[in-house]
Amino acid sequence: MKDKIVVPYAPILVESTRSVGYSFEAAVADIIDNSISAGAREVNITFDSTTSPFFCIADDGCGMTADELENAMRYGSQSSLETRGKNDMGRFGLGMKMASMSQCRKMTVITKKSGIISAASWDLDHIIQKNNWALKRFSEKEIKGMLGYDYLKDHDTGTVVVWQEFDYLRTECSDSRRDFGTAFLEKVKAAREHVALVFHRFIRGNEPGIKKIRIFFNNDEVEGIDPFLENHPATQRLADYPIPVGNEQILVKPFILPIISKLRKKDIDALGGKESIRQRQGFYVYRNKRLIIWGTWFRIISQSEVGKLARIRVDIPNTLDTLWGIDVKKSKANIPHMIRDKLRNVIEDAMGKSEKVIKYRGRNPKKDDGLIHTWDVCDDRGKIRYQINRNMPSLKALMNHLGEDEADALENMLKMVEEEFPYHDVYYRMAKEKMIDDKDKDNEKELYNRALSMVHDMESCGEDIPTFIEAMRHMERFAKHPEVINKIAEVYGDD
Ligand SMILES: Nc1ncnc2c1ncn2[C@@H]1O[C@H](COP(=O)(O)OP(=O)(O)OP(=O)(O)O)[C@@H](O)[C@H]1O
Ligand SMILES: [Mg+2]
Repeated sequence: MKDKIVVPYAPILVESTRSVGYSFEAAVADIIDNSISAGAREVNITFDSTTSPFFCIADDGCGMTADELENAMRYGSQSSLETRGKNDMGRFGLGMKMASMSQCRKMTVITKKSGIISAASWDLDHIIQKNNWALKRFSEKEIKGMLGYDYLKDHDTGTVVVWQEFDYLRTECSDSRRDFGTAFLEKVKAAREHVALVFHRFIRGNEPGIKKIRIFFNNDEVEGIDPFLENHPATQRLADYPIPVGNEQILVKPFILPIISKLRKKDIDALGGKESIRQRQGFYVYRNKRLIIWGTWFRIISQSEVGKLARIRVDIPNTLDTLWGIDVKKSKANIPHMIRDKLRNVIEDAMGKSEKVIKYRGRNPKKDDGLIHTWDVCDDRGKIRYQINRNMPSLKALMNHLGEDEADALENMLKMVEEEFPYHDVYYRMAKEKMIDDKDKDNEKELYNRALSMVHDMESCGEDIPTFIEAMRHMERFAKHPEVINKIAEVYGDD
């Protein structure tokens, strides 16, 4: 046997690797991963969509020497079999190159370490022209005119990745007759939202072992999007559930979001709107605290109305990458068989709690809140049913006033209403948030007319009106509106 060294054709290999399926936002996140691994405290993104469009990601991390830069630019700069530092977000030694070249034809890295600024570019046209892995290197003079130079001049250390010549997007735009500038800015906007979500724990920076990072898009600071609304007082945090794997552990923590009607518009928007809240139920898997995959139950169960408030955080360390089958783009992971069953238990518990938040957002049947309710909630050995409150003063008075046969007829009628109560329909419509809101019923004028007409009815039944008016203050329908009852009391007081 003898070896024959077969070197890949550079232009073909680079062109092929451009199509591994990076979205613009996933590519940007991949570059920011490197900034975090380099210990950056800020990531400064600048962009322009006009004459010479560029997208520039600058950080104040540790930077690289000229030799380190040369190695970093190599496709396969570090083996995926090598053990990485605990906080290293990298794995394959490919991200920076593949993510960048998936979006543009020319990527330049300018970096500063020990007071020296170095720069190198992968330029697809140059690679094609040389038909080789020809990396462009630049002199000090050339570097001075480059995008990113000013940023590094102001920092002791740091790295700037510059993307230029967005050929794929240009072709896409000319095929669909769209304006390039608009399409480019749309991509940037999507990237900003993506970054706000996937790096939210770094942006918040309040966990041990995490270095807070500030991310700017054209000088505008990104606010993190917390998919668990941890700061919201009504969010339920269930107990941690650690799953040991060899010497490592996977940490699972379920959260139950507050019912949507309790959320502020800002929270709903941050969660992507009401429909997204349902769609994004499921696991949120973080690798080294960076969100890599979310809104899936990994086919352990299917999405449902009842589970829409359940979100389960799963923290995996980078040492378990092979187990989870992390891909180059860090946007895919498969749940290992050995922990599938364990996660099933956690899901069942969380789903039960999510269901409770949706179902019992009304009243606890065992709790006396001092109100006279129209509907009583009865706990019939664990089965909940609703009953019209026969002790409501108005109903009691009516029953007493009616003759025996009419009272029986009314009782039969009430029983039928109770038996035919459309539980399932209400339940699903509530879950879909399509029900009338309590606030919609609070029209003061209508409420006053209703109260007045009830008082007239009670008069006809021969009831003591001042006593009835006092009882009205505790009736569910009127308790929140003392002003309406005061008005009624005034009218009757004058009589
Ligand atoms: N912003 C940066 N600051 C300092 N060093 C960097 C920066 N970006 C990249 N590097 C260096 O370049 C190397 C190559 O980066 P690249 O993203 O291609 O691969 P990786 O991060 O090692 O692995 P992965 O393919 O999983 O991203 C990194 O390992 C790091 O040493
Ligand atoms: Mg990387």
